[in-house]
Amino acid sequence: MYFIGFRCLKCGAGQDRDFAGYICPACGGNLEVIYNYDRLKHDVARDRMVTAGRPDIFRYAHFLPISRVDLAPPLKVGMTPLYHADRLGASVGLKHVYLKDDGLNPSASFKDRAGAVALVRARELNAKVVAGASTGNAGSSMACLAASVGMPCVIFVPEKAPPAKIAQLLIFGAKVIAVRGTYDDAFDLCLKVCERRGWFNRNTGYNPFTREGKKTCSFEICEQLGWHAPDRVIVATGDGNIISGIWKGMRDLHAVGMIDRMPKIDCAQSEASAAIAGAVRKLETGNLKLGSADWSRIVIDPVKATTLADSISVDQPRDGLAAVRAVVESGGEAVTVPDDEILAAIPELARRAGVFAEPAAACAWACLKKMALKKLIRPDERVVCVITGNGLKDVASARRVAGEPIVIDPTVEAAETVLKI
Ligand SMILES: Cc1ncc(COP(=O)(O)O)c(C=O)c1O
Ligand SMILES: [Zn+2]
Repeated sequence: MYFIGFRCLKCGAGQDRDFAGYICPACGGNLEVIYNYDRLKHDVARDRMVTAGRPDIFRYAHFLPISRVDLAPPLKVGMTPLYHADRLGASVGLKHVYLKDDGLNPSASFKDRAGAVALVRARELNAKVVAGASTGNAGSSMACLAASVGMPCVIFVPEKAPPAKIAQLLIFGAKVIAVRGTYDDAFDLCLKVCERRGWFNRNTGYNPFTREGKKTCSFEICEQLGWHAPDRVIVATGDGNIISGIWKGMRDLHAVGMIDRMPKIDCAQSEASAAIAGAVRKLETGNLKLGSADWSRIVIDPVKATTLADSISVDQPRDGLAAVRAVVESGGEAVTVPDDEILAAIPELARRAGVFAEPAAACAWACLKKMALKKLIRPDERVVCVITGNGLKDVASARRVAGEPIVIDPTVEAAETVLKI
């Protein structure tokens, strides 16, 4: 194993590999997993970056904080397609827009990457139960993966979580605790119960292993581009754990020389849930010089999120500092759009690229479009738009912008009448 310990993203304090907690004991900040890059660089030459024979994220096992790949779930997580979406890109004057379709994961969202690595960690620790708080996708993913290996799973959700996601949780056999309150209430309750019962806690941001699973998306993007980094990756952001995972993956690859430069990482948010974009703007207006920020002093002000894109509706981001660092240190943009632009992006993706995205995932395209129209991006830049969740997760939102079928009597004449185009 090349995993050597943890470093606090806020104060920089280190912990060794045997550290049994989740967050920094010194300041409460989120931890980042660290590796021995020198050894990795030496041992993992280009052709050994990938473990032959694995069709999933565990092909990058050298770069994961686990030792028992045999404990990985049998479902295929990751290695999702990267499409060159030329008609979609051309619609806003961009030549090289790629869609990374993570809606094709086993539970239909990006979260399977995190759940799979967290599950292996839980099994290595002989955990009896995995638990987590979730607004939907993280929980349904954990439930799905846990079911695939027979691990008991308890998920705390806010009572008002969307029906499709609740259905997934229940159908995979998780114990679903619907908390009368917000996601934050569910999150805090899950922490307390896990501590009391000694359960493995997969809570986003709080558990450093989720980011490690999510970084595999960057490994795949670069592998699919022939081990070249794109110019940009744009990521729909709520808690900030996905975007910080994308950033971590790129940094890992850069540190061992697998890519020769870092891409910009752009954060896409709804105007109605923009805590991270707000924090980035505050730093920019303070004329932040790269590298000069004292990260321990950054405060991310909570918002009152109201966006219809439930997966990115977050008051208090749980991995906010890491997300802000991803954008600022990579030189990316923080872009926000109103909800009607998010909804409009769903049929655009579907009709110009054949990819059906849930509202949160469509937010990434809506924000990329805005960047193109505002000329924040050059026409020839290679940009990857991560499609983080499948459109079938939220059919009601899709129906609002899908149009209506033409209802007719079952006769050829009636069909001919409506088909005369
Ligand atoms: C489909 C989808 N997109 C984007 C996100 C945002 O990820 P994060 O909360 O880590 O910023 C999520 C998280 O739930 C999601 O499910
Ligand atoms: Zn700390």
